Amino acid sequence: MLDLLIHNATLPDGRTAMSVAVQNGTIVEVSAGLQAPAHQALDAQGQLLSPPFVDPHFHMDATLSYGLPRINQSGTLLEGIALWGELKPLLTAEALIERALAYCDWAVAKGLLAIRTHVDVCDDRLLAVDALLQVKQQVAPYLDLQLVAFPQDGVLRAPTALANLKRALDKGVDVVGGIPHFERTYEQGTQSVKLLCEIAAERGLRVDMHCDESDDPLSRHVETLAFETQRLGLRGRVTGSHLTSMHSMDNYFVSKLIALMAESQLHAVANPLINITLQGRFDSYPKRRGLTRVPELLAAGINVAFGHDCVMDPWYSLGSGDMLEVAHMGLHVAQMTSQTAMRQCFDAVTVNAAQVMGLEGYGIAPGCHADLVLLQARNPVEALRLRATRLKVWRRGQLLAETAPVAAQLHLPGRPGQTSWISR
Ligand code: FE2
Repeated sequence: MLDLLIHNATLPDGRTAMSVAVQNGTIVEVSAGLQAPAHQALDAQGQLLSPPFVDPHFHMDATLSYGLPRINQSGTLLEGIALWGELKPLLTAEALIERALAYCDWAVAKGLLAIRTHVDVCDDRLLAVDALLQVKQQVAPYLDLQLVAFPQDGVLRAPTALANLKRALDKGVDVVGGIPHFERTYEQGTQSVKLLCEIAAERGLRVDMHCDESDDPLSRHVETLAFETQRLGLRGRVTGSHLTSMHSMDNYFVSKLIALMAESQLHAVANPLINITLQGRFDSYPKRRGLTRVPELLAAGINVAFGHDCVMDPWYSLGSGDMLEVAHMGLHVAQMTSQTAMRQCFDAVTVNAAQVMGLEGYGIAPGCHADLVLLQARNPVEALRLRATRLKVWRRGQLLAETAPVAAQLHLPGRPGQTSWISR
């Protein structure tokens, strides 16, 4: 007897009328029109059944702190970093944990079941590290949280950052972070990339760096990141996050750079909601969009994912943990409007993001974890268009969240009792 049988589902790859059978938290069969006894059976009515959303780039130590101690007036990355510096000494573990857990609740409701979060290690107390390690353990039954040791003030620029980063890794933080473009000089940035990749190689860890988050076309640290990835045998385990300077780089240089990134099997993470608001702030008109070159990276075979980055914090005043909103913005800013490109944007917040995190057992296939989201949409493009309601969210076959389908009851003159589903 199966634990759960979902039938008549549409899968993200376009297969329709599919059945997904779940036993002991694992998907045991995916086939068309399967008939089998199950404790629970559900007719998906042709709607989209997807593996869960994955956020490969977030800052959970800062989330839901909007307005503390004040609001970012200029809207720039640099004022955001300064504001975070003002907030850090005021943080308490209790408040941070409460906000992080509240965000994880939002995430689950939106079908977001895996998050890679950076955690600032430039605080000698390592208060946020300890707090998020506790949150990671607490949410483990329902959400995969991966932590990146992030030296926000620069691993070489801040006097205790390197020692703190190593302490954080000793405590169990999963991934090595960095921020080369924020170091004092370009050369220091280069050194920081080399140093941090060496630490990751020694410890057998992955790397995820904030890299070239600027409009400066000469910010080219991603080139060093790709080179160090090859030199240290880290292929497939290194991510360049943001990479916004690529938007402004010379096309000839980019043609060489993208080939090097592909050769290094670098993952790229763009954060469309945040970089469309933070970048171009020093431009008059025209204002650059400041998103990295997503279609070109994908065309070169590079794994590109989209991250949420921020929700209600010193850098961004909006957000709700909705990865469809993230992908929707990415689609617009990168002008990825063909059917194929829109589906790639859906992949950027699901399967591609899972690859960045190195998640095992992710997907809808026999042997995968029964982590699933049923959406009020018939395909990935409709899900993006509607930022579709997450009707049901399962983890290991257990129902975690339900939201009622959205429908407007219309009261139109001469047409009583009309309902609009805003689809078809
Ligand atoms: Fe970030």
